Amino acid sequence: MPELDDFRNFDVHWSSSEEMKEVREESVQSVITSPPYWDLKDYGHEDQIGTSDESYELYHDRMAEVWRECYDVLSDDGTMWVVVDTVMERGDLQLLPYHIAERAEDIGFVLQDMVVWHKPTAIAGMTDRNVVNKKEYVVYLSKNKDHKFNEGEAGNSLEDPAVSEDKRLGNLWRNPVKRGSIGNNVLHKAPYPTSLIERIVRLSSNEGDTILDPFLGSGTTAKSALRLKRKCIGYELNEDFDDIIADRLSDLKQQSLTDF
Ligand SMILES: C[S@@+](CC[C@H](N)C(=O)[O-])C[C@H]1O[C@@H](n2cnc3c(N)ncnc32)[C@H](O)[C@@H]1O
Repeated sequence: MPELDDFRNFDVHWSSSEEMKEVREESVQSVITSPPYWDLKDYGHEDQIGTSDESYELYHDRMAEVWRECYDVLSDDGTMWVVVDTVMERGDLQLLPYHIAERAEDIGFVLQDMVVWHKPTAIAGMTDRNVVNKKEYVVYLSKNKDHKFNEGEAGNSLEDPAVSEDKRLGNLWRNPVKRGSIGNNVLHKAPYPTSLIERIVRLSSNEGDTILDPFLGSGTTAKSALRLKRKCIGYELNEDFDDIIADRLSDLKQQSLTDF
């Protein structure tokens, strides 16, 4: 298995993304991430954002620190894509994606859209909702009104309502979730599908650009970015994910060590 240090185009920092001093200002083309959802999962680190003893306000205050750091390191035509969903709190639905959008706008981001990620394979469980939740949101923000957006790179699939007959990209994206394990490792608790992230990488950046994921988890963003010949920077608190990420990147090793 490769070591993460072997990847020339990938820097991982095992620290909180509330401070990203290792990243140069305006050096990142796109931020692509899914943050810890408030009070939902325990990722096994005492400094993680979103644990149950943290209020909803404090959660957003800490998140806002991360969004501010992201804003500073983004290039002028850069974008930020946050994959996140509403959460149930004692029978009451919290509009988490909308609150993240509002906090990001306070920092200076421009809200471009709330894309809906349709998860046809989602099953009941997890929460006490009466209806099965088959979607998440992708909060799509830009640093400035004018920003890089390669619409021709959206990809195409007959089953995907995102690409309709008039060939303009819509804001309903269909990406099934595959469950299971990767190699010998039990999968991270909340990975998102590579197909979803590859679309965002292609739309928001070109080869050679840098993608940042402030909540790296099992490294889906890194895998998609490196496969598509982008550079990647990731922050993650829990160093136990090191092996999982390395395992997921093992197919790419040759390519990523020799490319650009
Ligand atoms: C929803 S998961 C990310 C999943 C990832 N997109 C994937 O494909 O595996 C959120 C991650 O954020 C990490 N995390 C929580 N608080 C953090 C912080 N302050 N700084 C960096 N990472 C943090 C958690 O350990 C967890 O792995």
